[in-house]
Amino acid sequence: MNIQDIIAKKRDKQELNKEEIYFFINEYTNNKIADYQASALIMAIYINGMSKEETLNLTLAMASSGDILDLSEIGIVVDKHSTGGVGDKVTLILAPIIASLGVPVAKMSGRGLGYTGGTIDKLESIPGYKVNILEKEFIQNVKNIGISLIGQTMNLAPADKKIYALRDATSTTESIPLIASSIMSKKIAAGANKIVLDVTYGSGAFMKTKEQAEKLADEMIEIGKLAGRETIAILTPMDEPLGKNVGNTLEVVEAIEALNGSIKNDLKEVVLELGSNMLKLAGKGNNLEENKRKMIENIKNGKALEKFKELVENQGGDISYIEDINKFEKAKYILPVIYEANNEGIVRNLKAEEIGKLSVFLGGGRIKKEDKIDTAVGITFNKKIGDKVERGEILAYIHANNEEKGKEAVERLKQIYVIE
Ligand code: URA
Repeated sequence: MNIQDIIAKKRDKQELNKEEIYFFINEYTNNKIADYQASALIMAIYINGMSKEETLNLTLAMASSGDILDLSEIGIVVDKHSTGGVGDKVTLILAPIIASLGVPVAKMSGRGLGYTGGTIDKLESIPGYKVNILEKEFIQNVKNIGISLIGQTMNLAPADKKIYALRDATSTTESIPLIASSIMSKKIAAGANKIVLDVTYGSGAFMKTKEQAEKLADEMIEIGKLAGRETIAILTPMDEPLGKNVGNTLEVVEAIEALNGSIKNDLKEVVLELGSNMLKLAGKGNNLEENKRKMIENIKNGKALEKFKELVENQGGDISYIEDINKFEKAKYILPVIYEANNEGIVRNLKAEEIGKLSVFLGGGRIKKEDKIDTAVGITFNKKIGDKVERGEILAYIHANNEEKGKEAVERLKQIYVIE
């Protein structure tokens, strides 16, 4: 068997068998296939798709490219994963709330992908926070404090780690088999027995329509079932950025504010919807409204924030930043984007994909897989879809570390806002 034949087969729209898929994943994980060959195959999969059976084999091959954790001794452990979004800081808020309600959370997150942000890049903006910890520490953390959020480190789904970075740099992100296998291989390897998926759709999501999102959700639920993990999916619209900030540090700050009780409605809705279902899956109550009430209660009484601090401290992070968000490093230039038209208007559109790309342009995401991220840059929104604006009002702020780029971003953001 050789990789050229496998690439040619997929290029020619034929189905790959189990042996071919395992060959590709094993050889690529062991650096015996070059990045350019893997990229060619990934592009062929992107263009020609995969059958359900191929996607299942790809997922299982990726999950077994490293260790598969067994967390059964901890009891019911839940995990949550989003298919990607812009301004999506949900995990940072949701995971500590759920853990503070006595449900262990063990989660392996990803880095930014394409124009969407990644929880791991966000967590790394907390000084000292270690996303790379040993498997036994990961398990011990979940046992000790009921939560651990880690990156794709250790030996968990290493194939996905490599393919994910390639996809980020080769515009091959928006593909049902590639997303389903990427997410479910991580979920299977990280060991949780219950999984809640946030499947986003709209301009800021990889799935542009609800129908595509449903198809992706169905495939992941089926894979979860076959792998013995109870999986449910919630569909979430993502037409504008979620919450008020886009950018790594900015989103961490927003998450801390949310855990302190100040949270934008759109973000709150997603957090409560996903969380109430996580609690239900974990056997903590079938009444979703009651579950939401418990979550709000743990924000109000400070238990969720305490759990977040425990998480950060346990993984080496400096909690003085959580206690005083002003300590986070700010971008050098914080430039207002002012509404200059004569007539007042209503924001009608704020395309999340364009915003995500703008954040990457400022340095908040990667163009090449080895790029370093600038954690301080991003965008803060004063006005979102449905808001009324008058001449002279500030629509948003651009946070930039390069003045020229900052000024260009201001002009680009003015074009992205559709105000009628
Ligand atoms: N999140 C992942 O982990 N993988 C994807 O492909 C998309 C979102």
